[in-house]
Amino acid sequence: MLTKYKGSELFVENISITKLVKKYNTPLYIYSQTKIEDNFKAYKDGFKGISNIVCYAMKANSNHTILKLLSKLGCGADIVSGGELYRALKAGIKPQKIVYSGVGKTSKEIEYALKSNILMFNVESFEELEQINKIAGKLKIKAKISFRVNPDVDVHTHKYITTGKKGNKFGIPYEDAFDFYIKASKMKNIEIAGIDSHIGSQLLEVKPYNIAALRISKLIDKLEESGIKIKYIDIGGGLGIKYTSSDKPQTPEQLKKAVMSIYSKYKDKTIIIEPGRSIIGDAGILTGQVIYKKNSGTKNFIITDIAMTDLIRPALYEAYHEILPVKKTNKKQIIADIVGPVCESSDFIAKDRKISSLERNDFISVECAGAYGISMASQYNSRLIGAELLVKGSKVKVIRKADKKEDLISKEVK
Ligand code: LLP
Repeated sequence: MLTKYKGSELFVENISITKLVKKYNTPLYIYSQTKIEDNFKAYKDGFKGISNIVCYAMKANSNHTILKLLSKLGCGADIVSGGELYRALKAGIKPQKIVYSGVGKTSKEIEYALKSNILMFNVESFEELEQINKIAGKLKIKAKISFRVNPDVDVHTHKYITTGKKGNKFGIPYEDAFDFYIKASKMKNIEIAGIDSHIGSQLLEVKPYNIAALRISKLIDKLEESGIKIKYIDIGGGLGIKYTSSDKPQTPEQLKKAVMSIYSKYKDKTIIIEPGRSIIGDAGILTGQVIYKKNSGTKNFIITDIAMTDLIRPALYEAYHEILPVKKTNKKQIIADIVGPVCESSDFIAKDRKISSLERNDFISVECAGAYGISMASQYNSRLIGAELLVKGSKVKVIRKADKKEDLISKEVK
């Protein structure tokens, strides 16, 4: 766990969370720089000895300072929109370390990415390929592409975050891949650079990556026999993280072993990994404050200022996040729903959670909220999105200011 009690006070690195929440108000996202660096290093060390690029899946958290930090460490980016490309470039991420995934790249976005000279497009349909070819032709350049091939691998994760199974909207069917590559190789403004697959998110085990690699390698061999050269093998997103004490994620090094047991025969290829959650997820917390408590006869409710608009994962995926009191007490434990103020029954952070009884104004920390927290936040119910802080040792930096109420109507016509 990122946070630790010193006495009764919860800390991030060397800083008391009570001090931070009092100064910066809640909801407040707090990240540990050391943990982000360690998480990135785990991938770099894990994949040591083989040519690789770590392309951070910035959808997990695209804060400018966090991207700058990763960029300085040599990280690339996996992007899924023109907006993410803009952010990546602004943060100094090298275009030659940017891969572009996503099923719905618009013409404008394709043109922007081509002009920015990114490493490659992970193409998800034949129509997309035709469009890239057309736009690259207009710009008189060659577009580097890989196909995102759906390897039809079953993985154990929430149904909304599996992506590599038949019937998902992602990628191209495995059976069509060879034919599409042959067609692409004949297109004037297309240069085949690689092959890509992404099988899902929050995968705790490396076995599915190994199964996918086996299928993909058969395709690579067939393509290379036909004269189509593959330089990059993109293995998709990273490993899952420890949301609960029973989650035991395997390590980047084990991931390397699982894929390299298949791919080590290719000496001339670069492996691309697109981790998001495992870089930032357990490096961040979301803190909030208890507003009221009530009992509905059968249930205890703890109403906090953290809503589904700040962390939608419990509402969307019934995701579990550990919740800790910022000040430990000896109060008796109760079973309660911990909910937010939004007018939706799905606005909860935890259901039937055993927690030491909290009082009005107590602060709480929702653990492992660094990934898909603020990046999925909204202003629904005209709620203000909180600030983000980056902590290193005893130093604190505000890396996003909290919304002000004026921000709510700043873009609306008055
Ligand atoms: N690459 C591609 C093409 C992806 O679609 C994703 C995630 C990643 C990489 C990064 O996967 P990661 O390393 O973070 O597992 N909002 C959901 C997760 C959605 C993941 C979507 N794709 C959640 O909060 O659990």
